[in-house]
Amino acid sequence: MEELRQKYIAAISEAADEGALEALRVQAVGKKGEVSLKMRELGKMTPEERKVAGPALNALKDEINSALAAKKAALADVALEERLKEEWLDVTLPSRPTRRGTIHPISQVTEEVTAIFADMGFAVAEGPQVEDDWHNFDALNIPGHHPARAEMDTFYMARAEGDNRPPNVLRTHTSPVQIRSMLKHGAPIRIICPGRVYRCDYDQTHTPMFHQVEGLAIGKDISMANLKWTLEEFFSAFFGTHVETRFRASHFPFTEPSAEVDIRCSWEGGTVKVGEGDDWLEVLGSGMVHPKVLEAGGIDPEQWQGFAFGVGIDRIAMLKYGIPDLRAFFDSDLRWLRHYGFGALDVPTIRGGVSR
Ligand code: DAH
Repeated sequence: MEELRQKYIAAISEAADEGALEALRVQAVGKKGEVSLKMRELGKMTPEERKVAGPALNALKDEINSALAAKKAALADVALEERLKEEWLDVTLPSRPTRRGTIHPISQVTEEVTAIFADMGFAVAEGPQVEDDWHNFDALNIPGHHPARAEMDTFYMARAEGDNRPPNVLRTHTSPVQIRSMLKHGAPIRIICPGRVYRCDYDQTHTPMFHQVEGLAIGKDISMANLKWTLEEFFSAFFGTHVETRFRASHFPFTEPSAEVDIRCSWEGGTVKVGEGDDWLEVLGSGMVHPKVLEAGGIDPEQWQGFAFGVGIDRIAMLKYGIPDLRAFFDSDLRWLRHYGFGALDVPTIRGGVSR
């Protein structure tokens, strides 16, 4: 027994890896291992002999098992040491540069506009960019012969051969969303509709695709005075300073009366400053919704009235952030995007707390 003990304890301490250790385990205490075979001989012994040999064999088995376990743990430690030596990491190295995208000024300004009008109780509505001519024109009191149709430089979609319905258009303004919203929700209603619009035009201040936000408020007694308050409140919050507006009589088919709205500004050394000075800058079209437009939207003009307006998002973005050329908005030039873009966590820069 002592021979067995010395043989296995020595062999275990010299085992080079887990495989060798396992082989030793089988050889010693496995089912047909040397120690196990010895244990089987206990049956042939006299009770006296067994009293001595039994516990001794058990003790030997335990000793071998714990030697195996201890060696296994030691081998694992060595393996870990080896790995740690191989796989060390220099945590003091600077991290790899990450290229992060930026929020486009149009997205930023759309968020800002939405936040300001949300504060005043306006919900956001959306409509399709491919629009039918009824929503884009007729329902807005722009009949087929009306010069406004030609003036809008409309993009027409092709119809299949033999399909004689009037062509769909890329919406030329966000005003058709007024109609869709009225038809869907009825009155009273208070919405803004930001989105893309299209006109065949291209120069420093025009691109074939640009952005507008439409506003619509219909109620029992909504007046031009509410329109003026709402717009001044909006521009003041948007530009972060009190902004006065000036209403000029104008004409739109979908409003009566209609007004073009200017905001107070100054021109110094070729740059505009909004909110101060003696100049005026035209920024939007607006008016009281035409009775025919209310009717097209399924709303009784004898019962309801309200205002509407349309602002160019790109235009007010250029004004607020001092961006000189509209075309660059859509060139996807990374240098431009990094310069004028916003960080993902930038909060919209608007003057808080719209007064009521
Ligand atoms: N739809 C007009 C345009 O694209 C802008 C506009 C003017 C919208 C007056 C309105 C409005 O809602 O009342 O030029």
